[in-house]
Amino acid sequence: MPGFDIDLELLREFERGLDPLHPEAGAIPAHILGYGEISTVFEIGAERGGDLAYKRMPIFREEGELGGYRRIYHEYNLLLTQQVGLTIPPHGEVSFTEGGRILCFLFQEKLPPQSIGNRAIHLVPEPEVLLLFRLVMRELRKVWEFNRASERFEIGIDGQISNWALAGPDAEAPQVRPESRLLYLDTSTPLYRVEGEEQIDPELFLRSAPSFLVWLIRLLFLKDVVTRYYDFRLVAIDLIANFYKEQMKGLIPALIREANDFFAVEASDFKVRPITRKEVDSYYREDALIWRLYLGARKADRFLRTRVTRTGYPYILPDRVER
Ligand SMILES: Nc1ncnc2c1ncn2[C@@H]1O[C@H](COP(=O)(O)OP(=O)(O)OP(=O)(O)O)[C@@H](O)[C@H]1O
Ligand SMILES: [Mg+2]
Repeated sequence: MPGFDIDLELLREFERGLDPLHPEAGAIPAHILGYGEISTVFEIGAERGGDLAYKRMPIFREEGELGGYRRIYHEYNLLLTQQVGLTIPPHGEVSFTEGGRILCFLFQEKLPPQSIGNRAIHLVPEPEVLLLFRLVMRELRKVWEFNRASERFEIGIDGQISNWALAGPDAEAPQVRPESRLLYLDTSTPLYRVEGEEQIDPELFLRSAPSFLVWLIRLLFLKDVVTRYYDFRLVAIDLIANFYKEQMKGLIPALIREANDFFAVEASDFKVRPITRKEVDSYYREDALIWRLYLGARKADRFLRTRVTRTGYPYILPDRVER
């Protein structure tokens, strides 16, 4: 990994001037590059930020927790690149304490926005979208090949289209060719098991959840949300269901055909049952509902904490997510 010259003082200044409600308006402005379900990715302070994409993690309560997270973050990145054979953009993390809060900033080389899956699918012709889908399935297969061969490790992955980017010459004016190479971006939730034991503390997922919902999420969703990333078939369903969110519903039947052909021909050794339209639809309805409720509840929590109890709210939330 090339060395990064991170301007720690810039990050501290950014943090001191940050209003999580208006991240773009601080003394050192942040420019939002993308929203995930849980976190926000942004550039900091234009040129001074050094062409990096940052993800701010304000979730740690004590140093031990941060140390544990940093260890598994690096191990997950290493497993994916060295063992599985995925390509991840050059990356790293820095952590520090500012204003009594423990912070970790993950960073990655900033990629052209149009090269990222959820943008690229709107820019290339339909046959190339289907090809991109197949290339993603091939990357995913590497994970399950590794899992089958490994006695000690089991790796989970979030295959969403927004977690992949076209690399190299296909990135600038996006095009998908059979030889196109993909980058995997979303390594901030290190999902892997060592001798059957989940390495991430699932409680960390709950940190940014509103306190009035924590018990409910723990009870209803946590186990499902974590385990689905270890199931090839469910990861494929999740990826297909993404095209609803991307307003490309018309492509879903073709994507299901593509996936089932892939499972029958290229990945027949995994004996994955064909995916049906009904499953994709009901999965999407449930998933969209979970995340919409979740974001709504977090906004209510933010309102309580900034306006009513005035205890302060440290997370940057997406404005509105089109579904
Ligand atoms: N290196 C990068 N360069 C440019 N944009 C990026 C980069 N990494 C992420 N993004 C943008 O930010 C979005 C969210 O990033 P990512 O998938 O890593 O986070 P996330 O989905 O919020 O993660 P999680 O679901 O674990 O919270 C991406 O879909 C992409 O649009
Ligand atoms: Mg993501």
